[in-house]
Amino acid sequence: MALLKSLFAIVFLWFTFAAAQSVAGQFTLTIYQPSSALHGQIVNAAGEAFHLGGSPASYCPLTNLTLCPAGNQTIFAGMGAMFVEVPGGQEVYTTSAGAISYTQAHSASIPPNAYIGDFTNVTVMDNYSAPVYLVNWQAPQTVNSTKGILACPQVAPGNSTTVVYQVYANTPAFNQTNCTLVDGLLPHYTPPGVIGAWE
Ligand SMILES: *[C@@H]1O[C@H](CO)[C@@H](O)[C@H](O)[C@H]1NC(C)=O
Ligand SMILES: *[C@@H]1O[C@H](CO)[C@@H](O)[C@H](O)[C@H]1NC(C)=O
Ligand SMILES: *[C@@H]1O[C@H](CO)[C@@H](O)[C@H](O)[C@H]1NC(C)=O
Ligand SMILES: *[C@@H]1O[C@H](CO)[C@@H](O)[C@H](O)[C@H]1NC(C)=O
Ligand SMILES: *[C@@H]1O[C@H](CO)[C@@H](O)[C@H](O)[C@H]1NC(C)=O
Ligand SMILES: *[C@@H]1O[C@H](CO)[C@@H](O)[C@H](O)[C@H]1NC(C)=O
Ligand SMILES: *[C@@H]1O[C@H](CO)[C@@H](O)[C@H](O)[C@H]1NC(C)=O
Ligand SMILES: *[C@@H]1O[C@H](CO)[C@@H](O)[C@H](O)[C@H]1NC(C)=O
Repeated sequence: MALLKSLFAIVFLWFTFAAAQSVAGQFTLTIYQPSSALHGQIVNAAGEAFHLGGSPASYCPLTNLTLCPAGNQTIFAGMGAMFVEVPGGQEVYTTSAGAISYTQAHSASIPPNAYIGDFTNVTVMDNYSAPVYLVNWQAPQTVNSTKGILACPQVAPGNSTTVVYQVYANTPAFNQTNCTLVDGLLPHYTPPGVIGAWE
């Protein structure tokens, strides 16, 4: 019993410790939810939101295209921003209703009541394997705290047969339906200096 208790304490401490880890580095992200068909799908930026699959919407204004980044990957710099070249950068935020979003190039405009940051680094241990560190989200303690990341089906405008999944955080005002709650987003670290896109 004492052994069980101390094991429990160690596991508890481990999770507490792991949850306090910060979110840093440059990485692409995929959905982590081994039981779901969405597992492994890549997170791409397009239209100020993040979707699964497809390719990122990127743009490079330089006339000498050899100087443009490849623009075919959505690379995050921590969870505060995307790793892009455009002056001013592109900041990542979460709308009050939970849509994980980013600022348009050349604009620092963020809607009222948006959450900035609040991404967490959580640990999962599938099959008692080595720990896997995932990016997750938790509302600040000042509101009724909610947490979690979800992939929500969105019907493409004008095409009711095409469903794309958009990435949401479970904010207190989140109200999407038919979503899949995932364990988190798995970072895949990119080599230093590899820039995702100009914007
Ligand atoms: C999460 O924490 C672990 C353990 O410190 C660390 O190795 C990993 O890089 C962190 N993940 C991110 C995205 O910062
Ligand atoms: C474009 O940039 C490359 C790499 O710096 C350089 O070698 C090339 O001469 C440039 N081309 C033009 C037309 O400026
Ligand atoms: C992006 O493009 C570069 C250069 O064309 C290529 O080497 C790389 O494999 C591509 N990456 C992805 C994820 O498509
Ligand atoms: C856990 O183990 C089972 C049985 O070996 C396997 O089918 C499953 O894919 C494993 N899950 C993960 C997340 O590795
Ligand atoms: C928190 O929840 C309580 C009970 O459901 C509710 O009365 C209160 O308005 C909520 N506060 C916020 C900031 O959402
Ligand atoms: C709707 O999406 C399906 C599947 O991607 C495609 O085959 C079809 O052509 C699209 N229809 C329209 C009107 O865009
Ligand atoms: C969901 O929330 C959005 C933004 O707060 C709101 O405009 C919309 O009416 C809500 N939808 C439902 C079904 O409550
Ligand atoms: C939720 O999914 C079910 C089954 O796929 C579908 O019948 C229903 O229309 C969906 N509801 C919404 C609000 O998208």
